[in-house]
Amino acid sequence: MTQPLLEPYLLADLLLPYRVVMAPWTRARAYNPVHVPMRLMREYYTQRATAGLIISEGTWISENSIGGSIENRARFLFEALEAVLEVWPSQRVGIRTGPITNEVDPTGTHVESLAGDRVIHRLRKHYSRTFILNAGIDREHANQLLKDDRRSLVAFGRLFIASPDLVERICLKAPLNELRPEGFYGPSPVGYTDYPSLTPRPNRGSHKGNERGGACLTLHGSARLSFTGSVIRLKRC
Ligand SMILES: Cc1cc2nc3c(=O)[nH]c(=O)nc-3n(C[C@H](O)[C@H](O)[C@H](O)COP(=O)(O)O)c2cc1C
Repeated sequence: MTQPLLEPYLLADLLLPYRVVMAPWTRARAYNPVHVPMRLMREYYTQRATAGLIISEGTWISENSIGGSIENRARFLFEALEAVLEVWPSQRVGIRTGPITNEVDPTGTHVESLAGDRVIHRLRKHYSRTFILNAGIDREHANQLLKDDRRSLVAFGRLFIASPDLVERICLKAPLNELRPEGFYGPSPVGYTDYPSLTPRPNRGSHKGNERGGACLTLHGSARLSFTGSVIRLKRC
């Protein structure tokens, strides 16, 4: 039976080959003074270019002066959103949000009714367009979620780090590589580009992404917002 993860999906004007998204990860590996992505980052993304969509890592910007009340938090979100929309067309902009505890959020608001998968059903009542679901989701769970919700995609973080050929492994239902968390950060390729693929890949140094990009906002808990950088679409291998 076809896995919903492997179906194509029309996200605004981008036709994604799969519903598998790579989640953003700040890997802090650009060790030049201006933190410009280097050849190593190109290799990292090239290895993972079979993802339906890649959300690249970004720079964390913390803003603590706006927060606390729901009004203040909403104001922060909308001000940030307006700023981003001056730069990117709206079809390239998304908001990342979600309760980060299962019971009470940092302001004391009870969020049990949003815990686990319930958040999807709850938010669907208010939003009919694309959700990119994330955090702690494996292949089986993802397929179940996407079967129930045809307007969603699933983003994988840790699974994509450890298995650069995640799409192929999903397709084959093959085992995934074990994650090495000690390599999450640091300037070397260790724990970054040295995870093996099932099929050794030729050097694709000339592989280019297209120039169409976007931006994604992340709203965490109270008043912390991160600009997760560009949403980049790479061509299929
Ligand atoms: C080391 C690390 C760095 C991360 N960096 C970012 C980031 O820069 N921007 C962001 O929005 N999320 C970031 N995340 C969150 C991931 O995008 C993702 O939500 C998280 O890994 C959970 O998904 P998973 O269970 O599939 O791994 C980071 C997570 C980790 C563990």
